[in-house]
Parts: sequence; structure tokens; C-alpha cells
Amino acid sequence: MAWLNKSQFIHTTPGPKSVENQSAKQHLQDTVIAMSHLMKTVARSFSTACTRHGPVKVVTIIGSGLMGSGIAQVAASTGHDVVLVDQTGDILSKAMASMQKSLSRVAKKKFAEDPKGGEAFVAATMGRISTETDSSAAVKNADLVVEAIVENLAVKQELFSALDKSAPKHTIFTSNTSSLPIQDIAVATDRQDRFGGLHFFNPVPMMKLLEVIRIPSTSDETFNTLLEFGKAVKKTTVQCKDTPGFIVNRLLVPYMMEAVRLAERGDASPRDIDTAMKLGAGYPMGPFELTDYVGLDTCKFILDGWHAKYPENPLFNPSPRLNKLVSEGKLGAKTGEGFYKYDKK
Ligand SMILES: NC(=O)c1ccc[n+]([C@@H]2O[C@H](COP(=O)([O-])OP(=O)(O)OC[C@H]3O[C@@H](n4cnc5c(N)ncnc54)[C@H](O)[C@@H]3O)[C@@H](O)[C@H]2O)c1
Repeated sequence: MAWLNKSQFIHTTPGPKSVENQSAKQHLQDTVIAMSHLMKTVARSFSTACTRHGPVKVVTIIGSGLMGSGIAQVAASTGHDVVLVDQTGDILSKAMASMQKSLSRVAKKKFAEDPKGGEAFVAATMGRISTETDSSAAVKNADLVVEAIVENLAVKQELFSALDKSAPKHTIFTSNTSSLPIQDIAVATDRQDRFGGLHFFNPVPMMKLLEVIRIPSTSDETFNTLLEFGKAVKKTTVQCKDTPGFIVNRLLVPYMMEAVRLAERGDASPRDIDTAMKLGAGYPMGPFELTDYVGLDTCKFILDGWHAKYPENPLFNPSPRLNKLVSEGKLGAKTGEGFYKYDKK
């Protein structure tokens, strides 16, 4: 049926007046029915567009620490059903409390004029998160698994090998690892075409970037689903192959270590290097401030892993100064001392 408005239709209907009126009435009725059908279709497709997240509806997140709880929060607040897994109920309760707190802060800003709406947003988001200590049971309905457990290859492999046996065939597996090759984790499974990396940044609810990583066996369908998921959780995605540190850490870690080496050689002091990079390069933090913020132990762990795997690359050489500070327990801001001293209130 042609798309006519009421006045157009009546004025263009031919024939004697009564027949004209009857026919006009009938056509008008048809038009109204067609319109209502069309409006329903439009409304339906609009609401699907608003909540659509490709085939990913249920996300199982393993590890409820700093990263896992952040990922759970953003996934749930964008309409996904989330199953959050950790080793004990106690750890999970703490994670739930920290997400509730974080969401309340978000709601305060987002619903500044509508506190009731804010409360409903927090309740609806928390209502989409369930918890589980049995990771095999937790993946039974998963479309996507995001692993955010301890940065240890053997532990990650053991986990994925077990999950591979209990997750449905279609489930895509991903790791949020910062420094381990995705390929080395994926070999523990028989679903390497449905395996990739989703590298979120800390704090997850605030940081807009998501690095989406593919290994040679990742299928296009899997990779596109991961990119779609990234969009659905409202992150800006960048694509990268399975190279050490992906994009951000591959540039950042050698940069921080070059700064340490510059100071180690006595060419400049940490304070002056930080000042130079902030005022000369426009960086918000200097490399020593950044290393202290990230944690010297984390930097050493990443560097040692890369050095062991790529001993010929001088950018990944260990640093005696970094090693000494770590051995003394001076791990940065979190311990009160790293390259700088911090007030521990
Ligand atoms: N912290 C960061 O800034 C950051 C940024 C990007 C990526 N990552 C990566 O994310 C991952 C997690 O880092 P995090 O900082 O959240 O660590 P975290 O220590 O805060 O949390 C890890 C959680 O995993 C749990 N866990 C350990 N083994 C488990 C298992 N077998 N099953 C279930 N839960 C288990 C621990 O109990 C803990 O709660 C690591 O691979 C890390 O490299 C960290």
C-alpha cells in the first residue's frame, strides 16, 4: 500500500459521494492498519538497535579483581547479562560492593536531576550480574568469556583448558592479559578460531580504549563479534595482532625503561626527566611518575617476560635499578616508595 496521509488519500479518491465516502473510509481504515503495523515494525527495530550487542548477550568474566569487576560493570551497564567468577564468595562479595559504589558515583553524575532514575539504573545494572565460584558451571550459557585472572601463563592455560570442555561450541574465549601472548594461552583449547584478546584499561569504567587482538587462527566472524562487543560496551576499539604489549604497552613499557636507563647512566635525574616529558612533550605524567603509578613489580614482570621470550631485543633488557628497587619492596605509590616517596595516609 502506498504511504499516503489522511488528507491526500481522501482528496484523490474518485467516484460518487457516498461510494466515495465509503471507499475513502475503507481505504482510510486500511491506511491506519498499515500505519500502525509500520510503526510497530519501526519501534521494534529501533528498540533492537538500542539494545543490540551482536550475538553477545551473556558474558562470563573470570576474575573479579581490579579489571574483572570493571569489565563486569561496563558489560552489565550496557545491557549484557554477566556472570562474574572468582575463587571465593568473599572475594565476589567485595567485588559486588565495589561495583555498587562505583555505579552509584556514575549515577550521581548521569542522573544529577533524577535521583530515582539513578537508583533504578544502579539496581538494574547490579541485577544483571550474578556470581559463581565454579568457572565451569559459569560458562554454560556464555556467548563470550573474558578472562581477567592472575597474570600467569600456566594458570590461564589450565583455566581455559577446563572451560573448553564445559562451554558451548559457539562461546568465544578472550583474555585481558597485558603481557602474555594470546596464542600461548589459546593453545590450551580446541577453539583457536574462537579465541582472541580484549585488552581493557584501568579503571575500566573511565578508560575509553579497548584493544581487540587477533591470533592467526581467529576467524573473521569471531573478530567482528569482538569488535561489535567493544562498541556495545561503548569503548573505542583499535585492532592489533598478537604482538608483545599490543599497541599501548608495547610503546609505553620501553619508553618507561628508556627513562630509567637515562637516569641509570646519570644523564639526567628522574625529576628532570619527568619535568621534561610533561612540559616538553605535553604528557600528563612523567615516565617515573607513571612507573610508580603502574607499580615497579608489574613493570619488572612484563619486562622480564618479554626479555625471556625475545632476548635479542635491547628494548626489553632488564634494568639493574628497577630490579634493586623491587627487591627492596619499593614498588611505587602503592607501597609508599618507588622512584619517589609518597605520603601514606
Ligand atoms: N591492573 C591493570 O592495570 C591491568 C590492565 C590491563 C590488563 N590487566 C590484566 O588483567 C588481568 C587481571 O589483572 P587485575 O589487575 O584485575 O588483577 P587482580 O589481582 O586485581 O585480580 C585477579 C583476580 O583473579 C582471581 N583469580 C585468580 N586465579 C583465579 C582462577 N583460577 N579462577 C578464578 N579467579 C581467579 C583472584 O582471586 C583475583 O580476584 C591480568 O591478566 C592483567 O595482566 C591488568
